[in-house]
Amino acid sequence: MAETTGEGAQGGSFFNKERIKYSPEEEARLERQHFWRIIDAFRFYRVHVQEQVKRAERQFLSLPQRHQNLLPNVLSNLARISQCADHNQDILQAIVHNSLHMFENIEYGEREDPRKVRPSTTFDMDKLKSTIKQFARDWSETGRAERDTCYKPIIQEIQRLFPSDQYDVSKVSVLIPGAGLGRLAWEIARLGYICQGNEWSFFMLFSSNFVLNRCEKVNSLTLYPWIHQFSNNKKSSDQTRPIIFPDINPQSLPLDADFSMVAGDFVEVYRDSDSWDCVATCFFIDTAHNVIEYVETIWKILKPGGVWINLGPLLYHFENMANELSVELSYEDIRTAIVNFGFHIEVEKPSVQTTYTENDRSMLRYIYDCVFFVARKPAELYFTEEEEDEEDDQQQSSPPAAKSPRREGTDMLT
Ligand SMILES: C[S@@+](CC[C@H](N)C(=O)[O-])C[C@H]1O[C@@H](n2cnc3c(N)ncnc32)[C@H](O)[C@@H]1O
Repeated sequence: MAETTGEGAQGGSFFNKERIKYSPEEEARLERQHFWRIIDAFRFYRVHVQEQVKRAERQFLSLPQRHQNLLPNVLSNLARISQCADHNQDILQAIVHNSLHMFENIEYGEREDPRKVRPSTTFDMDKLKSTIKQFARDWSETGRAERDTCYKPIIQEIQRLFPSDQYDVSKVSVLIPGAGLGRLAWEIARLGYICQGNEWSFFMLFSSNFVLNRCEKVNSLTLYPWIHQFSNNKKSSDQTRPIIFPDINPQSLPLDADFSMVAGDFVEVYRDSDSWDCVATCFFIDTAHNVIEYVETIWKILKPGGVWINLGPLLYHFENMANELSVELSYEDIRTAIVNFGFHIEVEKPSVQTTYTENDRSMLRYIYDCVFFVARKPAELYFTEEEEDEEDDQQQSSPPAAKSPRREGTDMLT
């Protein structure tokens, strides 16, 4: 199992880089290359957005003068977008600055000339823009409504399944694979549970490291997450409106809170059986090449009696990507596999409507019709009758974490 960290030299106090134990030199080289590719993307952002702005200016200036005269605000709005991009770049620079030595157990060296800006792909720029929007979802007041629809049902379910009047919650361990910028994991740790976020993407890891370890002052920082959206704006000013963050001091966890973030691929990092009381996946399972591999991993790492809570859609991340395995299963098929593994589905809501990093003033808005479920790995499979009696005796005094309350799985919609 991955370890939690102590105080990091560069402030990576919640972070540890999980090494893949069998990694050959080549893997380390590729990882270094990947690390620097993402740092380069952060550094290239301003140039990329300025190119978009210049293109928009050129298009506008190519219009007949009589048309331009009818549109007195267009150029000033483009200038404003340019200023917002400069400001975003300042935040991205601060993120990069804090990322170079963020892992306590890995160094990635330095670039020969760190000031040199190297061009990035559109793919990486899109990832970076999504990461900027993720700040709104996770760490701004603007994202509160979205967090209430996505994170609250998960948190409430954890509190229902492991209530503090029946459990010593400081011994209940919760894992959040695909933790993004870490807010869900942080909220769960704030309630006293042991909570670990796991994240694969350097875009997210650099950014969560920054917000969790370097942003203490509430609402002291500004980002402009919507400037990249040139279509579907009702007002020009909608494109340049700011969000401020963090809406809460991420350093304000209780002193005894047990919160950590671990970098790495979920299926690579989490290999120890019977380790977690709860695994909670939010907008995560569709990131898999093979979602059944995720189900298998969750089955393995949950303690007997442990629960898997899931909320999210099935927007398969690798669909249509060349040379990538992608098995696009329906929820019905995944559900069959979950039940065949032996999980008992105890709660199932087939239609929970949510948004994801939504621009709420956009003329185009996506609603995800998510599934929410709680699936339990039964304790019964693992206990002899004698052991079960012992378990029952223990539960009467103080229920240990992740022992099933012996409720029958109903496999029914609730
Ligand atoms: C759609 S985002 C959801 C983030 C967060 N859970 C939320 O609800 O805002 C999916 C996240 O899973 C991460 N991810 C994808 N594949 C992963 C893997 N194999 N292991 C760990 N994290 C992964 C992505 O980098 C991304 O941050």
